[in-house]
Amino acid sequence: MTKLKVFEAFAGIGAQHKALSNMNKPYEVIGLAEWFVPAILAYHAIHNDVPILNATESAMREYLESKPLSMDSKTPISKGYWNRIKGDELRTICSYVKFSEEMGNIFDITTLTERKVRGIDLLTYSFPCQDISQQGKGEGIKEGTRSGLLLEIERYIRSLPDDELPKYLLLENVKALVSENHIEDFKKWIAYLETRGYITDWKVLNSKDFGSPQSRERVFALSSREEFVDLPLKSKKPPKVLKDILDKEFSEKYRLKKLESYERTPWQENRGTNFIRRFSIEGYTNFMSETRVFDINHIGCTLTAQGSNDKLKLMNDDKIYYMNPREMYRYMGFTTEDFEKVQELNILTKSHFVYTAGNSISVEVLESIFDRLKYEKDIKETQEESNWPNMESSLIKNLKSLEEISYNFIHHLVLTDQFENMKAKRETLKRQNKPLDVSTSEARTLLWKVKNTISIELLRKGKE
Ligand SMILES: C[S@@+](CC[C@H](N)C(=O)[O-])C[C@H]1O[C@@H](n2cnc3c(N)ncnc32)[C@H](O)[C@@H]1O
Repeated sequence: MTKLKVFEAFAGIGAQHKALSNMNKPYEVIGLAEWFVPAILAYHAIHNDVPILNATESAMREYLESKPLSMDSKTPISKGYWNRIKGDELRTICSYVKFSEEMGNIFDITTLTERKVRGIDLLTYSFPCQDISQQGKGEGIKEGTRSGLLLEIERYIRSLPDDELPKYLLLENVKALVSENHIEDFKKWIAYLETRGYITDWKVLNSKDFGSPQSRERVFALSSREEFVDLPLKSKKPPKVLKDILDKEFSEKYRLKKLESYERTPWQENRGTNFIRRFSIEGYTNFMSETRVFDINHIGCTLTAQGSNDKLKLMNDDKIYYMNPREMYRYMGFTTEDFEKVQELNILTKSHFVYTAGNSISVEVLESIFDRLKYEKDIKETQEESNWPNMESSLIKNLKSLEEISYNFIHHLVLTDQFENMKAKRETLKRQNKPLDVSTSEARTLLWKVKNTISIELLRKGKE
């Protein structure tokens, strides 16, 4: 059966992939963009079986040095970084990064081009939230900011011809994206998508309404080119409480004995069906969120990658504990097995676990959203329309390599003055001493002309 072809931009540990694999639907991750090494390691430990390479240390270093990777998720690795890494750690990282590249990881999102990645059905993009979230500097979606990486998605979408646009786009980000400060930027983006034929439904969804024990409000925007697909507000999954995802035995390692002696406020609780019940520790710190301790018989607050909410405090039998990394992965909808596969690599630190979990998306919410996509039906209809499905798939395969060849060919033709209508552009670029960018719309149009001629020709031949 034909599969939904998914590209995970800002893939993290692949909550998208996890949700799809939990559902009984055919899909294939055809590529991803993630440059943060701990996330790449965790992603493939969870989703794949990665073979370990047999290569020399210098060859592995040379390979890693040539890739646009990051060790803090924000900036590229400094030159010479890999010289400090050796032995099993180097081998594991190199094997995982290499495997990732083979699976279609383009690493740095700024290298996403229509030449590299095509044929996406579902593009997910949960871009960094630092410049949007309250904790961030609030610079918003601007060139050069972390959240400005949304502009990379825009650049990619702009570069695609209509018939190559992904069927669905799914955005996820912090609720502040639709707050007064940022709503205009958000609306502009949705309006641009409309000009490309996308109808978008956006909502602030709370994970607790989807069977997660976490109160996590995030904005989701689902854009579809074929028909309006509305986002679900909740799912039928039975609600969970913190206790359901916590280890059965509480470890002394995570106990906060010192805090147990402080004065406490009375228990406070919100109203509603599944709600948070907590108290605050008094006189411990001025940071309000750091003083909160949660009742494990209720739900908990949002787990974040950094800041005080990356250390959730829990009350059990009058003792206070931190939520541990294994529990955090389960809190986001991953399994104990997923966590253990990552832990077995012996590379991620505790803060890497917290960071990757807090940055992720509640798997339960994604499952409900993906359940709305009508791709199976669409795919079947497309197949029925076609008289010769096998012919069609081999044609597409051939066209892919022809595209590659014709792209280079066009580039060559343009550079060697063979296209009259490219003259002005060519001359300006020559004057500026700049190479011709093969992804300019002119070159693309020419390529599409060639591609269409080839496909018409091939179809004609096929019919004969
Ligand atoms: C909010 S998280 C998304 C997490 C993801 N949805 C998941 O399921 O775990 C944003 C991700 O974007 C990645 N990122 C940041 N800058 C990037 C860049 N220039 N290229 C590729 N990925 C980048 C970060 O490392 C981080 O993992």
